[in-house]
Amino acid sequence: MSSATSGSPRIDDALVARLRDDLTTSGFTVTEVSELLGPLAGAALAREQTLPARRVALAVDSPVATLVRLFTLGDPVDVAEVERALPTLRVSGAVALGLVAEEGDAVVARVDVRPYAADDRSWWVASDLAELATGRPVLDDHVLGVGGASTTLAAWTVRNPVRRALDIGTGSGVQALHLGEHAESITVTDLSARALAFARFNALLNEVTWDVRQGSMLDPIAGERFDLVVSNPPFVITPRSGEIPLFEYRDGGRAGDAVVADLVRGLGEHLEPGGVAQLLGNWEIPAGTTWTERVSSWLDGTGLDAWVVQREVQDPAEYAETWARDGGHHPGTADFDAMYAAWLDDFASRDVESIGFGIITLHRPAVEREPFLDLMDVRTPVATPMGEAVRVGLEARVWLAEHSDDEVLDRVWSAPQDVTEERHTRPGSADPSVIVARQGGGLGRVIPLTTVTAAYLSVADGELTPRQAVGAIAGILDLDAAEVEREVVTFIRDAAKDGLLV
Ligand SMILES: C[S@@+](CC[C@H](N)C(=O)[O-])C[C@H]1O[C@@H](n2cnc3c(N)ncnc32)[C@H](O)[C@@H]1O
Repeated sequence: MSSATSGSPRIDDALVARLRDDLTTSGFTVTEVSELLGPLAGAALAREQTLPARRVALAVDSPVATLVRLFTLGDPVDVAEVERALPTLRVSGAVALGLVAEEGDAVVARVDVRPYAADDRSWWVASDLAELATGRPVLDDHVLGVGGASTTLAAWTVRNPVRRALDIGTGSGVQALHLGEHAESITVTDLSARALAFARFNALLNEVTWDVRQGSMLDPIAGERFDLVVSNPPFVITPRSGEIPLFEYRDGGRAGDAVVADLVRGLGEHLEPGGVAQLLGNWEIPAGTTWTERVSSWLDGTGLDAWVVQREVQDPAEYAETWARDGGHHPGTADFDAMYAAWLDDFASRDVESIGFGIITLHRPAVEREPFLDLMDVRTPVATPMGEAVRVGLEARVWLAEHSDDEVLDRVWSAPQDVTEERHTRPGSADPSVIVARQGGGLGRVIPLTTVTAAYLSVADGELTPRQAVGAIAGILDLDAAEVEREVVTFIRDAAKDGLLV
């Protein structure tokens, strides 16, 4: 375990260039690290168990193994080994950058540096050392590396080419690295000066340029508009009573779910017409209310389209356990129990029965119209990444909001390849009792079909308009054409918004 305290990296163009060269030469990539660790140690490390990874890395004499021991596991590493893994930066350069410190004959990491890969791109991300490297709870000003929430937001982000993008609460800049693939200019903000030191360092290390601004939430971008805003905000609901450390990385300084509510309410004026904002959030669900009431109340009067997917619901006890553990506290300790009790008291004070988590996608309509509001509870597995499905779904929702039922009926629709029909029949029965359309990708939606909608779906192959199909279906089933039309339009609107008809 490292005994070094956390620092933040220093900016020095020449030294960072040497670091980049050395990490490249040493092959410090996600693929190489995975190959070194193998599935067992890799999976154990993901569960924060370091022993298998330490055994593997100690048994191999390679620069990648040295860098894993140094930066990921937080182990003291022999000076000579570090000199070999960072041959041009050398230990002296790494010390000058604030990445490591010398302790006797050993070198210990002061920050975490690790490779990160997604969407066929690969980067390095420097952040504070994780609890598994330091062996103690993280500090209040901890700067996160790439976590589960980071990858969730990145996976759900629509990757259309855009002119101006903004990342609110950038931390070490993970979302901004992704934005670099499809945004012409990128602004990043954070309240924390330490986080911004990491963001600047990571931008330099990965040879990208960001407009870096310090300030709270929307303050640093007053009067400005963007085409795409992403935010993994400090959304964790934290009692203000003092028992729980107010970690900068997860606590936005407000009671309850006010941080996310305020962000949703305030984002509209920072979006260009047609602009999109995507953020993660928690919402409180007080007794006798629903999550949809809670979240839709945030949207009232904003004029924004909103598509919110609730992915998880926890009761107050589950929530307290999750976030007490996240800060490095363990069940059975007095600290853990004090925090647990504080969370339960805090939720009880607002009569909160459960807490929802999900992804909020906001869109500023480009034309004058009623905004749409779509709140979906999807707790089953979805495609990874989801960005393309969100792009298709957002475009479809906008089109449907801007077109009449007549226009829906006169458009040719077809079911994509990943949509299948399932018929469930009771033993001995000739007719199916349940028919569903199942989506293989995207949100994995399953839509129950009636005889009418099943008949329409079977001819939705890109040739007939629904209006043409409706006449034939009504004739064959001996039904009123106007009623069939209504049923088909309702079905198309529901199926098309999630890409079961395109
Ligand atoms: C959950 S982390 C997200 C980090 C990174 N964007 C990611 O996706 O992993 C939230 C970030 O918000 C920052 N933050 C906390 N309070 C803030 C505030 N009031 N205004 C802006 N940023 C804040 C924290 O310093 C932290 O970097």
